[in-house]
Amino acid sequence: MPKRIIIDTDPAMGTKGGDPEDCFAIMLALNSPELQIEGITTVQGNVPVERGFSNVTYLLNELKKDIPIHSGIPGTFDEDRSKERSWLGQRENMEQITPLLTIDKEKIDAPSFISSTCNDNPNEIELVTIGPLTNVAKALEQTPDLKKNIKKITMMAGAAKVPGNITPAAEFNVWADPEAAAKVFESGIDITMVPLDVCHKTRLSRDELISIGEHKHPFCQFVKESVEPWINIRSDLVSDEGLHLYDSLAMAICFAPELVEFKPAYVAVETAGDHSTGETVCEFNQSIMGRITKPKPNAEIALKLDVQSFNKIFYERVINFLKSL
Ligand code: RIB
Ligand code: CA
Repeated sequence: MPKRIIIDTDPAMGTKGGDPEDCFAIMLALNSPELQIEGITTVQGNVPVERGFSNVTYLLNELKKDIPIHSGIPGTFDEDRSKERSWLGQRENMEQITPLLTIDKEKIDAPSFISSTCNDNPNEIELVTIGPLTNVAKALEQTPDLKKNIKKITMMAGAAKVPGNITPAAEFNVWADPEAAAKVFESGIDITMVPLDVCHKTRLSRDELISIGEHKHPFCQFVKESVEPWINIRSDLVSDEGLHLYDSLAMAICFAPELVEFKPAYVAVETAGDHSTGETVCEFNQSIMGRITKPKPNAEIALKLDVQSFNKIFYERVINFLKSL
């Protein structure tokens, strides 16, 4: 029986300058028989909500997939944080490749879709979150009994023992909405956290990405046009050319947990640090205080990755899929 999932994402393939990686994860999910996608919810993160909604709508239309899409609303879980992160939802200067759609206000939003789908199918639906956790936190706030009905959350989030990627302390998805992340970690839901520790072991080189563009199919040309600007930005920023496949790794771990080794930890999200907001402080009960207080773990942390096996899955189900179009 395939796993029934909802993908919560901030998809930027289709917006020049945004991180396009979510859409590779969605393609991986579409090409994985182990998964049944009940819906896709979009969240402010890599791009403003209208652009994320437009990008994933374009992706599913081009790949001829009929899957419900529900958009989150601009902003973060906490009002004060929203003001601080407003620029994330207001960026207009990025060139939009996919048609920019307006969000139908009559359609139920992302948090309501998550709540209704999970409450109507108690303990049957897993969430795979590959963006900030705003929608999930709002759904939990709106529907208190929801936490009992979400089977599991596999999240690309945080950093356990390595530095952050948006600040020295924080990984982007948690940093973008730390209060939302804190609420989800405190919910008691079964959580698998896929942190930078393993995500940074994955890499798709510029050459491999360019090879997609050597395939003349219009969708492959779209992928190349979307991804190249991001690679150029990253090369300037971090000098390691290519893409880390953060979200694709989280998606793969959802259906192939044997790719990694897990360690239980109590994860606390810093929301008040002057320099560390968004940090995921992971207590494996190995610190001096951890040995004394022994906080009960609230997440399984993926710490060791079988990179070759992951690469095989990704190449077969995404790269080779694209080249077969
Ligand atoms: O820190 C990596 C995360 O931030 C990924 O989900 C990537 O898509 C960006 O949203
Ligand atoms: Ca993402």
